[in-house]
Amino acid sequence: MNSQELRAVTWTAAAEGGRPALSLIDQTALPHTLERLAVTTVDGLIDAIVRLVVRGAPAIGAAGGYGVALAMAQAEREGWDRARLDAEVARIREARPTAVNLMVCVDRVKPRIGEGLPAVLAEADAIVREDLAANRAMGAYGADWLLKRVAAAQERPLRILTHCNTGALATAGWGTALGVIRELHARGRIETVYADETRPLLQGARLTAWELAQEGIPHYVQADGAAAGTILRGEVDAAIVGADRVAANGDTANKVGTVGIALACAYAGIPFMVAAPTTTVDLATPSGDAIHIELRGEAEVLEWAGVRTAPAASRGHNPAFDVTPGSLVTALVTERGVREVAAGELPVPGLSDPSGE
Ligand code: MRU
Repeated sequence: MNSQELRAVTWTAAAEGGRPALSLIDQTALPHTLERLAVTTVDGLIDAIVRLVVRGAPAIGAAGGYGVALAMAQAEREGWDRARLDAEVARIREARPTAVNLMVCVDRVKPRIGEGLPAVLAEADAIVREDLAANRAMGAYGADWLLKRVAAAQERPLRILTHCNTGALATAGWGTALGVIRELHARGRIETVYADETRPLLQGARLTAWELAQEGIPHYVQADGAAAGTILRGEVDAAIVGADRVAANGDTANKVGTVGIALACAYAGIPFMVAAPTTTVDLATPSGDAIHIELRGEAEVLEWAGVRTAPAASRGHNPAFDVTPGSLVTALVTERGVREVAAGELPVPGLSDPSGE
């Protein structure tokens, strides 16, 4: 299956037992097996989001949108009243705290509950359609910007470093940062991609490398700790990453390890690009300090494949994300274009500040 067909999140009107289900590519099983999980209950969906069966800010947003429909179907089967339905939808909204897309998408779909399931599904479908279109637009804008701004691109294809997985698996399809890379590859302008393995759950080594391999895009998987050295040795022309939340001042939360890449890019004088749809831009959050960073279980860093690797006495510190100051982001690409972020400015042209300032 190529990336054009890859859909991490789809709605199935009648899965096993005739129940409606959310069909998710099980990202915990990749790259070894490509299998789907049919989720039919709110508990099942929350478990899938927490275990990263479905992951990546726009993909969990899409899952949240359809999650409202899933909750309605369960309410119908189990005779929930409206208060119970609202409480279950709120649980979906809070399943992971950092990516704002989950909250934005649930909040967008929820007001349609009163109009019935078809209206709710139409809204969730629209989220998916718009995300796909946004990714295509970002890909083109990001590629154009890099080919114009990176001097090396005038002479040879580019060497791009990326972190985590921002591809079709993390979105409604195509991808954000990986969408820019795909677009560059389609134009014949990729020499190689350095895919950071992305500890501790290996979204880079397992998922990004799998997506790149599917399309024959040349790449290396490297340890996260190799990234700064690869950049400072001059082996990278630009870094492109996605985002889980971009605050009003341009501070960007993304997979843990991102800020170190941004610092290395600044030191080396190469672009650090963030590609994210406007659904990831949260003007109600003034700065990175106000972004809730998910702390995940200690076992993810103390064990390897279920076997304890750290001494029994060690504690694990496992923040899933970090915040890159907006001043380190050379360019923010959204579906509206590319914004070169200057510290203190609103990052997206045309979006207004809800505080009215
Ligand atoms: O914990 P994950 O795998 O959900 O983290 C995902 C990331 O940090 C991605 O870089 C981000 O969501 C952008 S996805 C287009």
